[in-house]
Amino acid sequence: MKSIVIKGAKVYHNGRFQDLEVRTDGPFISQVASRVSTDGARVIDASGLHLFPGIIDVQVHFREPGNTYKEDLESATRACAKGGVTSFCEMPNTSPPATNQKAMDYKLSLGAKKSRVNYSFFVGATNDNLDDLIGIKRVCGIKVFLGASTGDLLVDDMKALERIFAETNKNRVIAFHCEDEAFLRERKHLFEHRSDMRAYTEWRNVEAAYISSHRVVGLARKYQHRAHILHVSSARETELFHPRDTLVTAETSPHHLLLNVDDYDRLGTLGKMNPPLKYREDNAGLWKALQNGRIGVIATDHAPHTLEEKRRGTWKAPAGIPAVENSLALILDASSRGMCTLEQVVQWMCENPARTYAMKRKGFIQPGYDADLTLVDPNAEHVVRNSEQLTKCGWSPWDGQKLRGRALTTIVRGQVVYEDGQVNDDVRGSEIEFAV
Ligand code: DOR
Repeated sequence: MKSIVIKGAKVYHNGRFQDLEVRTDGPFISQVASRVSTDGARVIDASGLHLFPGIIDVQVHFREPGNTYKEDLESATRACAKGGVTSFCEMPNTSPPATNQKAMDYKLSLGAKKSRVNYSFFVGATNDNLDDLIGIKRVCGIKVFLGASTGDLLVDDMKALERIFAETNKNRVIAFHCEDEAFLRERKHLFEHRSDMRAYTEWRNVEAAYISSHRVVGLARKYQHRAHILHVSSARETELFHPRDTLVTAETSPHHLLLNVDDYDRLGTLGKMNPPLKYREDNAGLWKALQNGRIGVIATDHAPHTLEEKRRGTWKAPAGIPAVENSLALILDASSRGMCTLEQVVQWMCENPARTYAMKRKGFIQPGYDADLTLVDPNAEHVVRNSEQLTKCGWSPWDGQKLRGRALTTIVRGQVVYEDGQVNDDVRGSEIEFAV
């Protein structure tokens, strides 16, 4: 593998962007300095650009095995490369669900064969697979759905939930979909006669999420078990989290930051996901929680479904939207509008995701770390277009929207996987390693 030297960029190093050069040798970063050796290296002139650690998307659904007509590891990871995403953690609600070691090993073999970027997979919890969870190896974490969503995975037996906390490795992250299933079941009939998407939000409301997140935070503290709350959608939940807490951490998604029920007028059921969009004040509350450190991570919950499926009406359309190829651009665009700094984008989309899951050698531009790098032009404007999406489902809720800022070049373990608008299909990522 040819070494790479990146010159002329503002490089994110030790917490700020600096005029530095970076050299890769093999799959690793070998030098970060004001001048590095160019011997035997391909030199990339990155004047005017910013060099980020590769974006790490710690919540995606890539549909393989089982629903590869919506997405597969090839289409999804080509989309990642385009979006500047160099590593992902994939959810277990594939078909069949990934709930034991055999299923994990199979997914890892698919990753090695097909993934253009670095890969890892969650094992899914059920009411009765505790033994599988206790012995599991080579996973990023355990995923618990506390509210039913796409697929059959659900833990609705609260005794089973306590045993998962009590008996699995306390340092391994349990990642939670927090919407209280009993509360949802009780109230569904109040809304089902309505066909508007606001009814869907009123059903799966702030309280449904709050009750569930509150329970998880309590159990995590009781058992001193690592827990991570996924796709926080409301301002109210954020009061449950604390800056610098290393036991309970939280994540939100670009759509919960940037969209709300008003967008249903434009998107209809294309804007359906779980947990659903909330209100304008929730967008503001989530940005505030990122700013004050109660929430540390932005990840997409990339959840592709075909347009035909999405048009089946409020109650029949599946929940979920695709986002891996636009997430960085969306947050860079928000940054260009003064919502955050570029340094914060790196903290929320690279450093904290790596820290949250105790990934080895990822999330930072440091000698000895993996050469996963994303070259960003914060000023490049482009319009998101369905016709240009690489995700197999072929659409984006941001179709037609002009964004400022995007990834121009993506490097995965020392290999250029995306440049000049093209994916290099010869590149393969590696299995992500974890300290837990
Ligand atoms: O909207 C969602 N879609 N939320 C989930 O929890 C699952 C996901 C999917 O897999 O479609």
